[in-house]
Amino acid sequence: MSFKDNLKSDNLINGEWVEADSGERVDVTDPATDEVIATIPDAGAAETKRAIDAAHEAWTPWAATPAAERGKLVRKLGELMLRDADRLAAIMTAEQGKPLSEARGEINYAASFLEWAAGEAPRMYGETIPANSADKRILVMRQPVGVCAIITPWNFPAAMITRKIGPALAAGCTVVVKPAELTPLSAIAIGELAIEAGLPKGTVNIVTGDSKTISKPMFEDGRVRKLSFTGSTPVGQLLMKQASENLLRLSMELGGHAPFIVFDDADLERAVAGAVACKFRNAGQTCICANRFYVQSGIYDTFMDRFAKAIGKLKVGRGTQEGVNVGPLINDKAIEKVQEHVDDAKGKGASIKVGGEMIKLDGLANRFYAPTLIDGMTPDMKCASEETFGPVAPVARFEKDQEAIDAANNSPYGLASYFYTSDATRLMKTAEALYYGIVGANDAAPSTAQAPFGGVKHSGFGREGGKYVMDEYTNVKYVSWGLV
Ligand code: SIN
Repeated sequence: MSFKDNLKSDNLINGEWVEADSGERVDVTDPATDEVIATIPDAGAAETKRAIDAAHEAWTPWAATPAAERGKLVRKLGELMLRDADRLAAIMTAEQGKPLSEARGEINYAASFLEWAAGEAPRMYGETIPANSADKRILVMRQPVGVCAIITPWNFPAAMITRKIGPALAAGCTVVVKPAELTPLSAIAIGELAIEAGLPKGTVNIVTGDSKTISKPMFEDGRVRKLSFTGSTPVGQLLMKQASENLLRLSMELGGHAPFIVFDDADLERAVAGAVACKFRNAGQTCICANRFYVQSGIYDTFMDRFAKAIGKLKVGRGTQEGVNVGPLINDKAIEKVQEHVDDAKGKGASIKVGGEMIKLDGLANRFYAPTLIDGMTPDMKCASEETFGPVAPVARFEKDQEAIDAANNSPYGLASYFYTSDATRLMKTAEALYYGIVGANDAAPSTAQAPFGGVKHSGFGREGGKYVMDEYTNVKYVSWGLV
């Protein structure tokens, strides 16, 4: 059975599967082949407004549903995703390109956010505060913020949705989801399972089409009270401006430019394995991917040698092929940007140790880039300061610890950072010194539902995961109670 059998590709509004009012549809293509795998509604402002109507109407009864019951339904959605993991992974690989094993991993990861949020639902504790007079009591409660606009990116088509809708629904909010135009099918498949899980109509709505057209009513309609966005920093900045009119609450998970430091005393084998995993997962198209490497001089040559060998072993190909580690980039613009960064580094004196060019694969689109190792990164190179979002690892040598920490912090971004050392004091000092929301200390895979994922500076704000995530979807209210 193919994932295309019974593939749902409509919008979900108020529990109904609907077309765009205009009847217009847009193609969804496989980045590995350019094959059109489905078409989706090209919805606009009117459809979005109806989705907001539905979410608003569903909100009051959903917020009044006991938290444990809300949690049960959110958990059920996660269970259904795990039940259908193979199908969901096949949909994701077809629309996004990542290797099937990674897509399967993302489905598990996506479901883990639902399981986590389900557990948090009944723990939305309030508190009492001693009042300043004997005839008063102060009660603090947390209440759902209301209708949430959820705008998600193409690089993690399932996990970035559940990371947001899980806690939103668990807290008693309702959602209007606008998935990335390039990867809407995973979102729609999650919507189907939300209905099967028994989430009431109107609690989850999905609208597809042009981002600007759909986001506009989300900002103009005062009933939407929150925007949770994952995407690039420039788009996040624009959305923040638009959200200011109605003072929406915001969670912004934006771009990153992760440094990866390897100190002389690092466990080399772990550092190399970590560097490969961190850099090349999702073909380097991850906000928390290592973007630039700083390696201490005593270990530099050995590290480079082993890193080059490991990179050389990576298999590039279509995500559906057995054993593939690196799939296609998402589109032609992505390939051009990667090549531009590599050419810029070469032009400024770096040497290309592995890769450095696009790979042509029989019968496939020109969207595969060779995993690349660049020796001799300098601060003036684009790859040293701009998000490459591709399979390119530029490396610079450093002598003293402070040099690497200064270089790492010398960025407008502050999402994830990584380092490897075997010394506990150095570990603690470096972890404290890195001005980032996430620090992987001898750990290249820090993402997990239990932890407060999020950045600082131009990487945004808000925390997704852990107990902190419920704060993003709840308002704190206090009742000052005069005793009579
Ligand atoms: C991202 O690229 O923003 C998500 C990465 C992750 O959750 O690990």
